[in-house]
Amino acid sequence: MTIDPQYQLADVDSRLFGSFIEHLGRAVYGGIYDPGHPSADELGFRRDVLALVRDLQVPIVRYPGGNFVSGYRWEDGVGPIESRPAQLDLAWRSLEPNRIGLNEFVEWSKRAGAEVMMAVNLGTRGIEEAKQMVEYCNHPGGSYWSDLRRSHGHVDAHRIKVWCLGNEMDGPWQIGHKTADEYGRTAVEAAKLMKWVDPTIELVACGSSNSQMPTFPEWERIVLEHTYDHVEYISMHSYYGNRHNDLPSYLAQSLDMDHFIRSVIAACDYVKAKKRSRKTMSISFDEWNVWFHSNDADKQVEPWQVGPPLLEDVYTFEDALVVGCLLITLLRHADRVKIACLAQLVNVIAPIMTENGGASWKQTIYYPFLHASRYGRGTVMHTALQSPKYDCKEFTDVPYVESVAVWNQEAGELTIFAVNRDQHEHALFECNVRGFAGASVIEHTVLAHPDLKVVNTKEHPEEVAPTQLQGAAVDAGVLSVQLPKLSWNVIRLRV
Ligand code: AHR
Repeated sequence: MTIDPQYQLADVDSRLFGSFIEHLGRAVYGGIYDPGHPSADELGFRRDVLALVRDLQVPIVRYPGGNFVSGYRWEDGVGPIESRPAQLDLAWRSLEPNRIGLNEFVEWSKRAGAEVMMAVNLGTRGIEEAKQMVEYCNHPGGSYWSDLRRSHGHVDAHRIKVWCLGNEMDGPWQIGHKTADEYGRTAVEAAKLMKWVDPTIELVACGSSNSQMPTFPEWERIVLEHTYDHVEYISMHSYYGNRHNDLPSYLAQSLDMDHFIRSVIAACDYVKAKKRSRKTMSISFDEWNVWFHSNDADKQVEPWQVGPPLLEDVYTFEDALVVGCLLITLLRHADRVKIACLAQLVNVIAPIMTENGGASWKQTIYYPFLHASRYGRGTVMHTALQSPKYDCKEFTDVPYVESVAVWNQEAGELTIFAVNRDQHEHALFECNVRGFAGASVIEHTVLAHPDLKVVNTKEHPEEVAPTQLQGAAVDAGVLSVQLPKLSWNVIRLRV
C-alpha cells in the first residue's frame, strides 16, 4: 500500500460512528433503562451501560425506530409518566409502556455524550404530526407545542439537528408502507413544514431497505426526484449474515456494501444531473450490522410483552471481522457517507449486552467499532493497495487484505485499519509512508482468535479482546507489519 499526505479523499464526518436505539426488545427497557438496577441513576438509566457507550464515543444515536416509529405517537411518551398510555407496538408485537419518551431519551443522550437523530412517523401519521414534533422539540417557546415542552420541564429547546423522514417506507412489512411516489410526495411536504418551523435542521429521506428490494434503485430515483431540493441525505440500510456457514463469502460481504453504496451514489447523481442541480446528495447509512443469529429464536417469543428478548444476536469472532470490513468500507466512502449508524447499540443486534438487573458486557463486534470510532477521525487517504485475491461462491476478486488509512493531522497520527481474510496465512503488509517524514509506529492492536465461532458471554466477557503485537516498524519510509491470519488490525503511526 502507498499513502501520501498529498492524496486525501475526504474528512471523516464524526457521525460516521453513530448508532441506533429503537423501542424494540430490551434496547430501552432492560438495556439503557432499568430503574431497579444497582447502577441506575435518578432517571433509571444504567450507569454501567452509559460508561460502555461513552467509551465508544458515539456522536449521534438514531431514535425511536426503526419499524417501531411507523406506528408511534410521540405525544404518548411526553408529560407525566403516570398518565402515559400503554400501546400495542404492531411492528414488534410488543407492549410499549411509554415510560421512556423523547425527553428522557434526549437526557440519556446527553449523558452518553451523543446527539439525537430523531425519526418522525410517516407510516400511520403525516405532515402535521411531523411539524408538531419539530415545534415541540426545537421551537424556543410561545407556541402551543413548544410551551407544552416547557410545561414538561424542558425550558430550553432540544435543538435536534438531524431528522429522518420515516423509516423503510419501501418495505411491505412497514406500518403504512407506501409506493415511491406516495412516499416522495409525503416526504417533501413534511420536509417543507419541518424546515419552516426550524430552518437549521437536516433531513434524511428514506432510501431502499436493502439492495435486494425489487424497487431498488427506482425507489431512490423517484423519491429523490420529489425531495432532492429539500433533504440533505438519502438513507441506506443493510444487514449481513453467514446463513450457509460459508466463511470466504461471509468475509467478503463488505464488497456487497461497497457495490450498494456506489449504486446509491449513481442514483443520487443521476437525479442531480436531471435536475441540473449544484447540490450533491449525501448518504446516511443509518442501519448496518450483522443480523441473523437470532432470527429463529425470535419466532418463539410471546407477543405483547414489555422489553421481550428480541434480535439478541450473540456475536462470534468471525462477525467481528465482518464488522471490521464494513467499517473500512464506510470509511472508504467518507466523501459521500456522512452519517452511519451501527444498528443497534444495546441488546438488540448490539455491541453491548446486559442482563436485566445484572451484568453488562462487550460483544466481539464492540472492538472494531471502538477502534474505528477512536482512531478513524481525521482525513481518509487515497490508498493504492495491491493484494492477492480469491474467488468464492458469492464474489470474485476478493482482496485478502482489506484496508483504509486515516490521517489525524491534529493528533499527528496516521492510523491504518486492516483485515486479513486469509484463513491459512499471515500477510506481510508493507506500506510506503515516505511522504510522512519520520513516521514511527505507536502500536499495533489486533483482534484474533483460533476459534471463529467463539463469543463473549456474561461468564467469559473477555474471551475475544484486543491484544498488542510487537514487530511493526518503519524502515526507510516503509512500514512492515505482519497481519495474522483472520485478524482485525489497527496500526497507529506517529507522523
Ligand atoms: O434494526 C432492526 C430493524 O431493521 C429496524 O427496525 C428496521 O428499520 C430494519 O428492518
